[in-house]
Amino acid sequence: MSERIYVGADHAGFQLKQRLLAELTRLGYEPVDVGPKALDPADDYPDYARPLAEAVSRHVAQRGVLTCGTGLGMAYVANRYPGVRAAVAWSPEVAELARKHNDANVLVLPARFVSEEEGMEILHRWLDTRFEGGRHARRVAKIDHD
Ligand code: RB5
Repeated sequence: MSERIYVGADHAGFQLKQRLLAELTRLGYEPVDVGPKALDPADDYPDYARPLAEAVSRHVAQRGVLTCGTGLGMAYVANRYPGVRAAVAWSPEVAELARKHNDANVLVLPARFVSEEEGMEILHRWLDTRFEGGRHARRVAKIDHD
């Protein structure tokens, strides 16, 4: 069975989200679109970050991808949910380290600061990189507990 990956955006990330959905499908994943379903310049990023973060936090989904203008608002909301590690990544290198060292289970793309092509490269690197574990597992465990 193909992995379900939740995907969400606000108006600033809407176009990039459509591209992410198509790319995830092309790669054989099953993207779940938490919205918005149409471009609404007045929408609010928490309304899309919440359902995605809740799904990851409750293990309904293993991973998710969010996008807004800077990526920051989406990350603020998503990281309030236990077990969610949302990383804003503006380059493939940052995405790789977010996986290797921080076990990021939510990728957040800053749509106003990366091109669609860069966004796809960042997505690929994040999807393809495994968590290194070891000393990083100890540190990740300390995020939620002393
Ligand atoms: C929307 O204009 C913008 O504030 C939002 O997409 C995001 O960048 C917030 O963090």
